[in-house]
Amino acid sequence: HKVDWDTSESELGSYSHFMEKEIFEQPNSLMNGMRGRFSDDGSTAVFGGLNLTPQELRQIDRILFLACGTAWHSCLVAEYLIERFARIPVEVEYASEFRYRNSPLDKNTLVIAISQSGETIDTLGALREAKRKGYRTLAINNSVGSTIARESDGGIYQHAGPEIGVASTKAFTSQIMICAMLALYLGRLRDLSYGDGVDIVKALKQVPEQVHAILKQNEKIEAIAKKYARYEDCLFLGRQLMFPIALEGALKLKEISYIHAEGYPAAEMKHGPIALICEECPSVFLATSGEIFQKSLANVQEVKARKGKVICIATAGCDLPEGLVDDIVIVPECHEIVQPILMSIPIQLFSYHVALARGCDVDKPRNLAKSVTVE
Ligand code: G6P
Repeated sequence: HKVDWDTSESELGSYSHFMEKEIFEQPNSLMNGMRGRFSDDGSTAVFGGLNLTPQELRQIDRILFLACGTAWHSCLVAEYLIERFARIPVEVEYASEFRYRNSPLDKNTLVIAISQSGETIDTLGALREAKRKGYRTLAINNSVGSTIARESDGGIYQHAGPEIGVASTKAFTSQIMICAMLALYLGRLRDLSYGDGVDIVKALKQVPEQVHAILKQNEKIEAIAKKYARYEDCLFLGRQLMFPIALEGALKLKEISYIHAEGYPAAEMKHGPIALICEECPSVFLATSGEIFQKSLANVQEVKARKGKVICIATAGCDLPEGLVDDIVIVPECHEIVQPILMSIPIQLFSYHVALARGCDVDKPRNLAKSVTVE
């Protein structure tokens, strides 16, 4: 699978890189993923290509998600969202591991592969293995007519538009959007009430506007990125829904800036990564308001007590003590289900600007390919 790099400058428009363009396209790509996909009563999502009836979907006892790279992080978000809103147990596996294991799966397991390109060989191999065993398979995929889309029993297209930058940005948020809508749909087939469904649909529809508002903080995030571009290590910490976003933040930074970065659930810090904390190892904290916020705050204090610099990305409702963190980016207060999307935008901009400040080629990072079609 070859990406054509002879793309004319006009495709970039006023942007300097495809990564930048794709970050800024997100209000549109997210809108396109939702278009025509809500029920008339505004309480659930509708998908045209699942090839499963509501009756069949109610029989599912478990969902297994398979993917690689950034798409695997989308699967982790899906795990939290589907378990929370649809109450269906979810497992997530690296496609490359699943295909060579002999996992005992429950007979009523639905297998879902997530892949931007739909051509990743490990994901395809895992999907084929699941099909061979007779499981129902779905694909969440961006590239229309891809091999994974063709070989799965049904699926949902992301409609995010082509993604050229090697580091995935708009494809990631679009995958999370689709997973949120799937959690809503599956939830409404089970115990999620009409009123809760309506609230979620409203929250999802507000996302493009909220993302647009966060993008306006680009210059502020650029200034923060420049302050931290010289460090060689960085931790990304978050809990619950923010844990996969911490993993994705670390992946984004390491992919394009070559800074060593690790993502952790914040409470796991005390079981190892805290040993790394010093003046030379900053942390990016992803804090959302809600029941876990006070605990996250305690984790921030642990880092500060060890002279670690802290950049905090927080939702507006977080009550952070004055002067506790070194730098802060605020995203709008929002429904829990859309927090992973909104909180992803600042980490994308942060990595992008850190990489630029270090003189890295953000669209074509060393050793990486957009789509990996060999094992
Ligand atoms: C490559 C890309 C990643 C991507 C992964 C999975 O490693 O560099 O950005 O997340 O493949 O790709 P897929 O197309 O299956 O989502």
